[in-house]
Amino acid sequence: MRIDIITLFPELLSSPFETSILKRALTAGVAQVNFHNLRDYSINKQKQVDDYPFGGGAGMVMMIEPIDRCITHLKKQRNYDAVIYLTPDGETLNQKIANRFATTQHLILLCGHYKGVDQRVRDHLITHEISIGDFVLSGGELAAAVFCDSVIRLLPGVLGDESSALTDSFQDDLLAPPIYTRPATYNGWNVPEILISGNTPKVEAWRDEQALDRTHRLRPDLLK
Ligand code: ADE
Repeated sequence: MRIDIITLFPELLSSPFETSILKRALTAGVAQVNFHNLRDYSINKQKQVDDYPFGGGAGMVMMIEPIDRCITHLKKQRNYDAVIYLTPDGETLNQKIANRFATTQHLILLCGHYKGVDQRVRDHLITHEISIGDFVLSGGELAAAVFCDSVIRLLPGVLGDESSALTDSFQDDLLAPPIYTRPATYNGWNVPEILISGNTPKVEAWRDEQALDRTHRLRPDLLK
């Protein structure tokens, strides 16, 4: 999978890809992530990428021309499955959406800043709009990193234990059950007996029951 991220602040984006699972995925070549600085596609010597809103009002608007130039440049090199704009008024990211994008080959992500992008970008150049939740970030970069993490970790070969992503919370509309590790007793707080019984079918049944119970208590909306 290849993800091209268009941003005004590439330095905001680098570290999530330099550690842990994402780093491993990139090093193994399972995923490739490229940053494109929108200023490199600016229309003038001042490297301008934004301008005042027509009709007045506070804040600057990201201009269509640099964005179009960058997207056109990328599209000349390969076909893209989606051109995604990260925005608080997009569709809220969830596990189903991450699963769906994990089956694609080439994605462009556009990170917004200031008041956002000229509406014509959204109307004509963008295929999907994604939000990571009902709150407003200073820009789309952190949202793009969250999106990439949720998708790349699902790619075959990324997680050591192949079944691991399947047992994540939300993967079957259930929260994950509680987990424990050694020591079996700490401060007088004990690990549930069943987990040290060695009885795998019983452990599985207990985990299913716990997942259902936790979902009932914490996220009853998922069971509807
Ligand atoms: N840009 C600013 N806020 C955002 C959010 N909540 N999700 C996605 N992109 C954003």
